[in-house]
Amino acid sequence: MTMRGIKKIFKTKPTIEGAGVNLNRGFGFHEIPEFDPFLLFDDFSGENVSDYIAGFPWHPHRGIETVTYVLHGAVEHQDSMGNKGVIGTGSVQWMTAGSGIIHQEMPKESPGGLAGFQLWVNLPAKNKMMPPRYQDILPHDMPVIEKNGAHVRIIAGNFEGVEGPVRDLIVSPTYFDITLDADMTFVQDFPVGHTVLMYIISGSIVEENNSVVSSGNIVLMGDGDNFSCTAGKSGVRFLLIAGKPLGEKVAWHGPIVMNTQEELALAFEEYQNGTFIK
Ligand code: FE2
Repeated sequence: MTMRGIKKIFKTKPTIEGAGVNLNRGFGFHEIPEFDPFLLFDDFSGENVSDYIAGFPWHPHRGIETVTYVLHGAVEHQDSMGNKGVIGTGSVQWMTAGSGIIHQEMPKESPGGLAGFQLWVNLPAKNKMMPPRYQDILPHDMPVIEKNGAHVRIIAGNFEGVEGPVRDLIVSPTYFDITLDADMTFVQDFPVGHTVLMYIISGSIVEENNSVVSSGNIVLMGDGDNFSCTAGKSGVRFLLIAGKPLGEKVAWHGPIVMNTQEELALAFEEYQNGTFIK
């Protein structure tokens, strides 16, 4: 058994996205291919309504999946296929853009602010043009397993033999929301070669050398088969995300991620001339 050590820590960076949303980016374009099969992670939490109310008006996606997890508040969603709904507190929308979708994601004003995350998962070349689909996950759909001071909310993947509600995914990702009591250690096996990362939402973890990593950091783990982390003095809440790297070429512009510049150019050409939606 090989333990996965911490490979690199990425402090989130203030970034303006959409029509003027102030968010914090954990990783993105500049980190390719470090997080393969994941492309981007944003924490769009904001206390002030002016941080988030501008939202993300109509824009296209192709070649990826976007995973929106709302911890608190609500994000209204509407798309080119006529779908309309609200991603509310504790809910997840796992959207496979595939061949293409045009949508808008508009946070609503909510007392106590907005809290949530968006993760982009890449699709392999053979699935980039698959039909678009959604998996909408409500809070009660996600099993919570308690073990050794850990409260593990399973969005995708398997913990202690319990499978999360998001299934039939291309890169077999793991996505857990874990609350770990003070000084407790959480362990989980992942196949060697898979990418494993944490995002610390609140509290802190303690590294082997006793240094502390606190909230607002992405922790990218090195390779091995065993992941473990220990909570600091006030406990920790973190996202644990893992998946099998695709190892393919990435051609990325804005909300569209393909394998070649030609595919990228074609996507934008189709968006301009109205043939983007298949
Ligand atoms: Fe989007």
